Amino acid sequence: MADNPEAKRVFSRRSVIKGVIAGGVAVSSTSYLFRATTALGQTGVAERLITLNVNGQQRRVDVMKQETLAWTLRYKLGLTGTKLGCDRAECGACTVLIDDVPYYACSMLSHTVRGRKVVTLEGLAGADGTLHPVQQAIIDEQGFQCAFCMSGFIMSAVGFLKTNPNPSRSELAQGLSGNLCRCQDYDKILTSMMRGAELMRRG
Ligand code: FES
Ligand code: FES
Repeated sequence: MADNPEAKRVFSRRSVIKGVIAGGVAVSSTSYLFRATTALGQTGVAERLITLNVNGQQRRVDVMKQETLAWTLRYKLGLTGTKLGCDRAECGACTVLIDDVPYYACSMLSHTVRGRKVVTLEGLAGADGTLHPVQQAIIDEQGFQCAFCMSGFIMSAVGFLKTNPNPSRSELAQGLSGNLCRCQDYDKILTSMMRGAELMRRG
């Protein structure tokens, strides 16, 4: 492979996608934390210390009254697997699970999810690093182009499959209809998610 540029390109793309699938960290979260401190500090609005249950951990975090969960996750807690696309409940890139139900994190206020269980992309893999079946299926099927929308689709699929573990292709398409893909890669995405459903059923 070392002498084959095409193989190198494919390998490199796989490595990047694998990294994004597992943790969503395509860039250092440090820069986001810095940005958050700067941007929020300019508002002059007092923050309030609250505790959120995120990926099974109790996380103490300062939030403002009007702060969205997507903002808190990304810029306060460094969980950049939650993407911000439209920031107005249209694209689904920010989807997370709250008590096992998919929600747009850009449209939830952080203080309203106290006492509830929030799961982000980073919380899906097992403690030993084993990927969730839906994540594994995406690697198997290479289901995304740029993958910006991927974490939102994964979270929506995981939430949907909890309620319907054996969906038809059209049922799953319906279940994922709140997520948009700018690359229009819907057919491959759906194939990946159907494969994820199959892997989940196999346990
Ligand atoms: S960023 Fe939340 S729905 Fe688009
Ligand atoms: S793969 Fe690019 S936005 Fe969906």
